[in-house]
Amino acid sequence: EKGGFDHFMLKEIYEQPRSIKDCMRGRIYPEEGKVQLGGIKEFAEKLKNIDRIIIVACGTSWHAGLVGEYLIEEYARIPVEVEYASEFRYRNPIITEKDVVIAISQSGETADTMAAIEMAKERGATIFGICNVAGASIPRLTHAGVYTHAGPEIGVASTKAFTAQVTVLTLMAFYMAQQKGTITTSKLIELLTELDHIPEKIQVALESNELIKEVAEKIKDSTNCLFLGRGSGFPVALEGALKLKEISYIHAEGYPAAEMKHGPIALIDEEMPVVFIATQNSSYEKVISNIQEVKARKGKVIAIVTQGDTEVKKMADYCIEIPDANEAFLPLIATIPLQLLSYHIAVMRGCNVDQPRNLAKSVTVE
Ligand code: M6R
Repeated sequence: EKGGFDHFMLKEIYEQPRSIKDCMRGRIYPEEGKVQLGGIKEFAEKLKNIDRIIIVACGTSWHAGLVGEYLIEEYARIPVEVEYASEFRYRNPIITEKDVVIAISQSGETADTMAAIEMAKERGATIFGICNVAGASIPRLTHAGVYTHAGPEIGVASTKAFTAQVTVLTLMAFYMAQQKGTITTSKLIELLTELDHIPEKIQVALESNELIKEVAEKIKDSTNCLFLGRGSGFPVALEGALKLKEISYIHAEGYPAAEMKHGPIALIDEEMPVVFIATQNSSYEKVISNIQEVKARKGKVIAIVTQGDTEVKKMADYCIEIPDANEAFLPLIATIPLQLLSYHIAVMRGCNVDQPRNLAKSVTVE
């Protein structure tokens, strides 16, 4: 049932070109520059006048929410707040009928996310769900929603569900932009045409597997690891760190690269691997200076770079290339090598990759 793979996690990592395609099927019309989301179309009018969006989720789904924040603010120009469901539910948050709450959950059964939904619902907000498991509790609690259609995810570490959540959030951002008129049809044609080909780029990213294995071999005995990124590379860094810690038990932290100087830089020495999301986008130059700061302190730099990069290659100890893409789609591609890196490190350390200690696939208690 693992389809010839050693673990479900690896199978699920390799399924991503397909799961993302499944997630987009029937929802994007690149030639017309149109996004259709049947699940939330009843609310199409409402979306023209909302004041803000609150995203609630836990763990990896919360990281997807952070990517969603960048995309929705960039394209639909609606202010977004991303909240840990467990914190949100116990505050006394200000919620009005004009708010839309988006709850993200692979399983659709996470206790804290459910409680956050119930609270926001009582206060009059409209609740959308982004779930993977059809008919789970969360889709039944929400007013409307969009399924991720990633297929069953067995590995406790979320992989294909994460990229499908990010895909749905990308579609939602474009859909809202279309409703609000904050994007032109020609821009949408351009973006959707590229999005349509993202599964092929993910396929290319998967082809670095052997190289990633070599990098894993070099850093597998580390006790700590830092993941740094900027812009939408920051949630990718957080997700990379979570993946590593949950399956390999190496202590890992994700940080916005510029925050390094405000504390974590003190940790850097020759023993410390630092994984950078250093693709060629708007923060490229800034990330390069952060890499220099790490190298000056003898840290080991592993960089996720755009194919053909020469600048970062001069400084980094190891570079893993991914295909170039519009900044909006980079999280979808840059996540892939980080999933593989964690996977190989965990296998090399003899860890139970699919069922890490102390963890459950869905956290149904608070
Ligand atoms: O089913 P959910 O998306 O609501 O689960 C949320 C988290 O428990 C989950 O993402 C967790 O962080 C994963 N094990 C991470 O790989």
